[in-house]
Amino acid sequence: MQWIHAADYTDMSLKAAELVAALVQRGDRCVLGLPTGKTPLGLYRELAARRLDWRGVATFNLDEYVGLSPEHPASFRSFMRRNLFDLCAQPPRWAIPDGSAPDLTAECLRYEAALAEAGPIDLLILGLGRNGHIGFNEPGSPLDSATRVVTLSAETRAVNRSDFPADEAVPARAITMGIGTMLKARRILLLAGGAEKAPALAAALSGPVTPAVPASALQLHPDVIVLADAAASG
Ligand code: GLP
Repeated sequence: MQWIHAADYTDMSLKAAELVAALVQRGDRCVLGLPTGKTPLGLYRELAARRLDWRGVATFNLDEYVGLSPEHPASFRSFMRRNLFDLCAQPPRWAIPDGSAPDLTAECLRYEAALAEAGPIDLLILGLGRNGHIGFNEPGSPLDSATRVVTLSAETRAVNRSDFPADEAVPARAITMGIGTMLKARRILLLAGGAEKAPALAAALSGPVTPAVPASALQLHPDVIVLADAAASG
């Protein structure tokens, strides 16, 4: 496990952008796994500012809420278009699970098949939930899980509450890339910023490998880069 220490959130975002831009600019095709949430916002801002040519890149997002229309402002599809895809002159071929699909099981199988078709993810970028979740793999998620529908914890729904209008409930379910799916990536970049992530980061990297802390599964992967700011590094 390689550590890159960042001084603060801005430094973490810049360092992450260097890593991702190097892959995108390599020229030959590559496959990226992309997160949502506040952590990657600085990274996406940096990448959009660099005016990269993403045409050789395919991206797969980690997750999407179930039951939102794709155009809903709080959908992860809208998040990604607002914060990255629509800011790129030559955007990547992007894919996000369809949480509005009539047959969610079929949608999960379709997403896994698309991932398999695209070939291993070259760089999977992960944020870290305060309860140690990755994507929407909540505590208790099997470490060999595939893309599937999950029930969101009360804690996760409370943290994501601010993304929704006060009179709208945070969805109770989501489609997430599974932990087993994530571990097939060639390289994983875990981003963690802020003191509120320090306990989860310590448990993930120094604690036992257990479904109780989904991010601890990263200890099983041969090529993980942890890019954390001082506050998250404890
Ligand atoms: C959500 C997302 C995760 C993200 C996590 C942390 O649950 N599904 O992919 O890593 O929140 O988000 P933030 O970066 O805002 O702390």
